[in-house]
Amino acid sequence: MLHKFINGHILNGQDAFKPATLGSLKLKNRILKAATFEGMTPDGVPGERLQNFQKGIADGGVGMTTLSYCTTEADGRIMDNMMWLHPGIEDRLRALIQDLKQTGTKVSGQVTHCGHFSQLQNLEKNSPPKGPSKMFVGIGATVGRFIAPAMTQNDIDVLIETYRQAAAFMKNFGFDAIEIHFGHGYGLSQFISPKTNKRRDEYGGSHENRMRLPLQVLAAMRGEVGADFPILGKISMTDAVKGGVDYDLGLRVAQSLDQAGIDALIPSAGTSSYNSMYMFRGDSVARGMVAMQDRAVMKALLKVAGPLMWKKYPYEPTYLLESAKRIKKNVNCPVIYIGGVSTRADIDRVFESGFDFVQLGRALIKDPDFVKRAAENPDYDSGCTHCNFCVPLIQHPDGIRCVLNDEVAA
Ligand SMILES: Cc1cc2nc3c(=O)[nH]c(=O)nc-3n(C[C@H](O)[C@H](O)[C@H](O)COP(=O)(O)O)c2cc1C
Ligand code: SF4
Repeated sequence: MLHKFINGHILNGQDAFKPATLGSLKLKNRILKAATFEGMTPDGVPGERLQNFQKGIADGGVGMTTLSYCTTEADGRIMDNMMWLHPGIEDRLRALIQDLKQTGTKVSGQVTHCGHFSQLQNLEKNSPPKGPSKMFVGIGATVGRFIAPAMTQNDIDVLIETYRQAAAFMKNFGFDAIEIHFGHGYGLSQFISPKTNKRRDEYGGSHENRMRLPLQVLAAMRGEVGADFPILGKISMTDAVKGGVDYDLGLRVAQSLDQAGIDALIPSAGTSSYNSMYMFRGDSVARGMVAMQDRAVMKALLKVAGPLMWKKYPYEPTYLLESAKRIKKNVNCPVIYIGGVSTRADIDRVFESGFDFVQLGRALIKDPDFVKRAAENPDYDSGCTHCNFCVPLIQHPDGIRCVLNDEVAA
């Protein structure tokens, strides 16, 4: 099939490079940069490196870029080098967004709160990171916090208020869109997932109850920015862990957000907490972790434990396509495909499969000019080998980079 009739339009690979609208937002094309936390916000402040990195991608021609990790409060970070939205960073963030917008690209921000998934050492609050239910949390154990307490009703109310305030900041700072992270094992997905949500009150048990907080967050943010401001939602179609969200539940999550008025869905898969390789595929992130580690004992430990901690899933182009198609068929809002788009042929396949937009992560880390090059060359390949060395570099003081480009530069 060469192209497909969708929402009154014929889309094929070439259409990916033509102007489009996402809700009220006019985009120069349908190719968007995915949220890839770059590790370039030392002490939570957007730095020069982030500016250069993002500018390179904006100049490369994406329709919209995404800034990530943007969290709603200081303790919503997993690590110190993540950004939280507050007036103290207004000038830097406003300048960055304006600079990016001058290229003609739009700018979205991915809003995330880590919930209990945190290894932050210096907490602002006088309490450890909390989740829906009291439980052991592996990442917390690495900094001596073994048990995360359950959130109280007051904690929930405060959390919703931080999301509302984040929405107000984002609109005011100049963002064109908001992407709420409902997946990957972070705070809101801890409520969605039966693996981590064991509550017996109105926030736990049934699907409706587990969706209550995510939907309250969406409503609070929508109330702040209004109906015309695009709010996208990234979900995990499956947590890929026993007892977590499976594909059937993932579809219900998508439908609940669709019915609640989300402007577009980004169906990803896997969780950073339990099974991150399901999200990435390709070579284990353990290899990069071992390479980055300068302590001999940790290096040795990681070499032994790595294969147990990170499962192996072979990389296949557009590896989430079939499951994402099921979401597309069963929701009304636009669907943004993500996962394993690395070549022009992948772009063609995504649009011929009926998707409205596409998000790219690693292809743009490897080649910020991907859009321009793929538009001109139907055989274009970004050259990303899915070695996943860039992933652990989120913890590197200089942030992420494609290590293959080091070899080219050398
Ligand atoms: C270095 C790096 C950082 C990432 N950080 C985030 C993030 O902050 N939020 C998120 O939702 N996904 C994050 N991801 C996952 C990507 O958004 C995307 O879901 C995944 O890489 C698959 O898409 P790709 O094949 O186009 O890379 C990250 C990926 C990479 C490589
Ligand atoms: S380091 Fe480069 S080649 Fe390896 S996964 Fe990241 S972007 Fe792709």
